[in-house]
Amino acid sequence: MTTVTSTDDEQRAFDALIDADARIEPRDGMPDDYRKTLIRQMSQHAHSEIIGMQPEGNWITRAPSLQRKAILMAKVQDEAGHGLYLYSATQTLGITRDEMTEQLIEGRAKYSSIFNYPTPTWADMGAIGWLVDGAAIVNQVPLCRCSYGPYARAMVRICKEESFHQRQGFEILLTLMQGTDAQKQMAQDAVDRWYWPSLMMFGPPDDESPNSARSMAWKIKRFSNDELRQRFVGMLVPQAEVLGVTLPDPNLRWNDDTQQYDMSPIDWDEFMAVLKGHGPMNAVRIQTRRDAHEGGAWVREAAAEYARKQQQKEQAA
Ligand SMILES: [Fe+2]
Ligand SMILES: [Fe+2]
Repeated sequence: MTTVTSTDDEQRAFDALIDADARIEPRDGMPDDYRKTLIRQMSQHAHSEIIGMQPEGNWITRAPSLQRKAILMAKVQDEAGHGLYLYSATQTLGITRDEMTEQLIEGRAKYSSIFNYPTPTWADMGAIGWLVDGAAIVNQVPLCRCSYGPYARAMVRICKEESFHQRQGFEILLTLMQGTDAQKQMAQDAVDRWYWPSLMMFGPPDDESPNSARSMAWKIKRFSNDELRQRFVGMLVPQAEVLGVTLPDPNLRWNDDTQQYDMSPIDWDEFMAVLKGHGPMNAVRIQTRRDAHEGGAWVREAAAEYARKQQQKEQAA
């Protein structure tokens, strides 16, 4: 008679849950690589939400009207909320919030490269909402069905808010495109600058994405990078027509034979350079985050002191 170790039992239970398309919960046993992959992906996602507040936060004081300012503030606050859900969900895998914060402010953690580009004009708020939040939705909707329960549930709430972000961006661009020639030019210029980086958000082409197959087998990932990129472009083309903007790719056209869009090759050298920290804004983003963390030390101390006093009171009672 063979003895089954608890690890084998755990692996079997895990495989059965994945096969049944059920959710893995924090109490369930899971392979170490699954846990590590999720910690990496989810913490990077959380960092991206938090760092992503900066390019738009840059425009809150300069929004062109009170209404625009209120909308932009709500949007940036939503991103803070997304970061918080995701940090909490990641903590269920056995990493602390402090560890994740340290990794970020010491420059050891990755976050989405898109946030290392500057936002010189108001039209960038439109282009970010339309293209960056738009790409985020296409990436994140399938994550609502991700095999890890806390991640999947966080994504359901996040995706609802991302749709609002995408529409507010579209609406900013639409308003500019109905304005003066200078405003139209500003909108087109922002689309020209954000289009390619937003396509890069889906990650490297399928044949150069070594971890994708494993994530698909674990049902963390449901569609390949190239499939999602195609879906995104398919969404943009009719919307660009409504806006009256040109997508900056002369080779972009529907191909009836392949049933997908032909497009120019993506400049992955630029992507890799930005990823390695040579983007226009990498250093500023990390420094700003570090300053905010240090500036908030007194809040954390006060909260801890309050909790200590409450506990004392409870013990005395
Ligand atoms: Fe977000
Ligand atoms: Fe967003």
